[in-house]
Amino acid sequence: MPMKKLVLGLAATAALAFAGGAQAQGYPTKPVTMIVPFAAGGPTDIIARIVADNMSKTLGQQIVIENVAGAGGTTGIARALTAAPDGYTIAMGHLGTFSAAPATYPGLKYDPINGMQTIGLAGGTPILIVARKNFEPKDLNGFVSYVKANADKVNEAHAGLGSVSWTTCTLLKGVLGTPKINAVAYRGTGPALNDLVSGQVDFMCDQIVSVAEQVRANSIKAYAVASAQRSPALPDVPTTKEAGLPEYQIEAWNGIAGPKGLPKEAVDKLVDALNKALNDEGTKKRLLDLGTVLPTAEERTPAGFAALIKRDADKLTPALSAAPKQ
Ligand code: MLT
Repeated sequence: MPMKKLVLGLAATAALAFAGGAQAQGYPTKPVTMIVPFAAGGPTDIIARIVADNMSKTLGQQIVIENVAGAGGTTGIARALTAAPDGYTIAMGHLGTFSAAPATYPGLKYDPINGMQTIGLAGGTPILIVARKNFEPKDLNGFVSYVKANADKVNEAHAGLGSVSWTTCTLLKGVLGTPKINAVAYRGTGPALNDLVSGQVDFMCDQIVSVAEQVRANSIKAYAVASAQRSPALPDVPTTKEAGLPEYQIEAWNGIAGPKGLPKEAVDKLVDALNKALNDEGTKKRLLDLGTVLPTAEERTPAGFAALIKRDADKLTPALSAAPKQ
């Protein structure tokens, strides 16, 4: 080959190699879509937007939130986990979509244990038993007696089979021995909360982040938080243990995952961006004001988050497999 052509050929090869390397090292080179599998205004959407806002700064590219609601969050998660594994489609899921859904939907189109890439936990979200403000029972004991006596009349709101609100109220109904309360399904607890505030449904079990402000404003009432400790965001709300129902305790959470097979560079950068967001004072304050529990260092790692998903799936599967799907 003549020298000039050889030099040009080598230069072209080097340029291609550089472009490839730069692209791999340069993730992300375009906006990243984060699928929120519920309606806007609910806990998943709220946490996703707060965290993504800061992660976008670290990544140097916008994380765009896309709400894909339906089937208790499984429609959106299935969309995210079957997307190209290139780091440009990820999802904010939770206890429901990652740990409860497999026990709820026998034909689920994704496998959170073996078929996805975890990034990390974004926050713990204590569960509150909340009711419309003029619902008759005054406290948790009153609520328990009232619901037992009127199981055929009261209405529960939830965000679809396998969602956190459905899962946690299903466990509550198991404790109360009232498995068949009339339930109204919404595309997220954002819209369900609107109907609770306007008094069209009686009660629900929801993650603190979307209800804290309404409880503080007395637009709805909170009977108890189903955690071991009271939430600093709502210090007047007793724990279920304090209020007389110690057997009802459940911790919910939200976290980020993507399709299996994501490039290591994308995983590393997303993990780093999540960690930086959770260490950022402004982001922390926004999360803490809503009652979010900040994840431990271990829970912020892909392996730590995967272990949490598996632990909770193992815990929930027996109760949810046997529960009425309504
Ligand atoms: C939501 O964001 O609407 C909730 O997380 C739904 C739920 O799982 O209850």
